Amino acid sequence: MSIKALSGKVFLLITGASRGIGRQIATSFGSVLQEGSHILLLATNLNALKESATYIPPSISVDTVSVDLGKATKDELHSIIMQSIKNKRQKEFDRVVIVHNAGTTGNVTESTNDMTDINAWRNYFDINVFSPAILNGVVMKIFNEETNTEKTIINITSLFGIQAGKGVGYYCTGKAAREMFFKVFALENPQVDVLNYSPGPVQTDMFQHICDEVGNKETKIQFNDMVKKASVLTCEQTVNRLLSVLKNRKYKSGDHVDYFDEI
Ligand SMILES: NC(=O)c1ccc[n+]([C@@H]2O[C@H](COP(=O)([O-])OP(=O)(O)OC[C@H]3O[C@@H](n4cnc5c(N)ncnc54)[C@H](OP(=O)(O)O)[C@@H]3O)[C@@H](O)[C@H]2O)c1
Repeated sequence: MSIKALSGKVFLLITGASRGIGRQIATSFGSVLQEGSHILLLATNLNALKESATYIPPSISVDTVSVDLGKATKDELHSIIMQSIKNKRQKEFDRVVIVHNAGTTGNVTESTNDMTDINAWRNYFDINVFSPAILNGVVMKIFNEETNTEKTIINITSLFGIQAGKGVGYYCTGKAAREMFFKVFALENPQVDVLNYSPGPVQTDMFQHICDEVGNKETKIQFNDMVKKASVLTCEQTVNRLLSVLKNRKYKSGDHVDYFDEI
């Protein structure tokens, strides 16, 4: 499959690549990248990241780094990327692709009236909003300095970023803020291809966590009904759809595109 957004020698960075949708992105994107491309996989669980790396063809070099994205500073992120690129110069890559995929649900037992702990808010926004924004800026700086490398930025967003859901207050506000950041980024950087991809309901640990733990009864029923009706997607289905959205390139940079959109 020839996809312009993933073409040439690519430096691909995926956050949250140790399981779920992130692992599938590593597997599926890895299989379409050109020889000489290089992938950097980030998450906290190093063993699981190493397993993800085994699904990538040997013609592509892969680094796996354990990092808590809720805590890493700008300088730490900069050094992780520079060490991964090592002796390669930025200009050896035709394109840099970042997939901001890592995410958490936050506490799903609380309703908005209970969300009064400032530290819970801060922790949630650290991982889900501030970290992708900072990482994005760090990568832009590295690749803008010496070269005019083409850039594709994919933010894994959610229907909950544009539609409220009961019992998922942290998740909805975080996804909305993160998506808006990437919309502003797209406006300010018209030379960069930016996609906010909403993967639909996907059978992962995160989906299961909401099924099991969400405090709001309506949301619990809604999620568990999707499982009963077998309308939950596999990681492979949603990442195949993401690849076809990138291939067809019918979206405007910064758009929110959902798995179910006819685009
Ligand atoms: N599943 C769905 O139905 C669905 C629907 C819409 C949108 N999404 C979005 O899709 C993305 C992936 O979700 P998923 O369902 O695949 O979730 P998942 O299976 O729970 O995976 C989450 C990933 O994020 C990483 N992560 C979490 N906290 C981290 C931290 N502090 N530092 C570094 N990495 C961290 C995890 O790695 P470690 O545990 O190794 O740190 C893991 O690789 C998320 O942005 C989610 O909001 C999912």
